[in-house]
Amino acid sequence: MATTKSNPLIMLTIAIFITHSTTTTTTKANSNNLHQEKQSHLHFYLHDIVSSPNPTAIRVAAANTTNKSPTTFGAVAILDDPLTEGPDAHSRLIGRAQGSYMFASKEEVGLLMVVNLVFFESGGGGGGGGSVTVVGRNAVKEGVREMAVVGGSGAYRFARGYVLVSTYSLDAITGDTVDEFDVYVEHR
Ligand SMILES: *[C@@H]1O[C@H](CO)[C@@H](O)[C@H](O)[C@H]1NC(C)=O
Repeated sequence: MATTKSNPLIMLTIAIFITHSTTTTTTKANSNNLHQEKQSHLHFYLHDIVSSPNPTAIRVAAANTTNKSPTTFGAVAILDDPLTEGPDAHSRLIGRAQGSYMFASKEEVGLLMVVNLVFFESGGGGGGGGSVTVVGRNAVKEGVREMAVVGGSGAYRFARGYVLVSTYSLDAITGDTVDEFDVYVEHR
């Protein structure tokens, strides 16, 4: 990238590309240097294990009509799902998805998700980790679902952005699912 240092009128843009195995962070300083906005792309896999003996997502509540609903409408689950670098459950653990999902649609299997994605180390620069808070609709049978990043902590303070989720694999017998996540987030 070409940077003009001699002319202060030209916006100085510093782009630092730190390639981590799962994250890419770009730093942009604007001309008055009030803020340093960073953009990160995080890519990983979420393992939603509903089967025994060690489920990571458990149903905690339901309506008395839920069992008759083809879309499980009214059920609520709490999750603490591992996030891994690759689709294999034994690949490197990079964080956890902690929160809940509610079956909030009568017409299809549509979840309302309220989840903190907690990362053990920060995206690229090292030092401290952080989390992003995701709220959104996850219609699990659709190809790519989009949810909002509404905030963050640590390395992801002031986070805003979006998440794209697609199903990587679904075990028809156990119901266990692996989802592929791409998180695009701006933060400081
Ligand atoms: C569900 O609960 C409501 C409120 O208590 C009750 O009126 C209704 O009959 C119940 N329905 C079933 C299918 O049990």
